[in-house]
Amino acid sequence: MNYDNLTLVYSEKQIQERLDILAAEIVGHYAGKPLVLICVLKGAFMFFSDLVKRLDCDVAVDFVRVASYGAGTESSRHVSFTKDIEISLEGKHVILVDDIVDSGLTMSFLLQQFAARKTASLAVAALISKHERRETDVHVDFVGFEFSEKGYIVGYGLDYAEQYRALPAIYTMRM
Ligand code: IMP
Ligand code: MG
Repeated sequence: MNYDNLTLVYSEKQIQERLDILAAEIVGHYAGKPLVLICVLKGAFMFFSDLVKRLDCDVAVDFVRVASYGAGTESSRHVSFTKDIEISLEGKHVILVDDIVDSGLTMSFLLQQFAARKTASLAVAALISKHERRETDVHVDFVGFEFSEKGYIVGYGLDYAEQYRALPAIYTMRM
């Protein structure tokens, strides 16, 4: 594979060190309460597994997958589930875990859906919060990295046409 079009943004070491801190924040925040972490497939899979491994507490996991339709402007996009979770969330403290919050439309949709599910609490974790195209005021409770530059990011689960997901670091890609 050709990597000439990639520029390193966060190294594997930087990511892993940041996750140590983020996981400690989460464990400290919930202080032994029963947690459910929900991975938004596919992009978050690597972040999710590295994060979950570090949570030394009562934690269950589940997975959702969403699709978004509609070309044109971001705000005309329609988001729906293609796979929903399978475990009960009643009385549980839930964290939705995504790779990137960009426009925020995906996370707004998920928050709206999960708000109706009788959770004890609902929070959002994202590896990267991008601000360039943000359209909603969605609050990200646990952020890996604030990305204020412009550009498309790949690696560490993030893809461009299914390429680059397996890379252990994060890069910007020249189209
Ligand atoms: P949002 O709905 O615009 O907040 O973003 C939804 C999804 O778009 C994210 O969960 C990512 O899967 C994807 N995405 C947004 N920006 C990037 C990027 O720079 N690289 C790879 N995927 C991205
Ligand atoms: Mg995604």
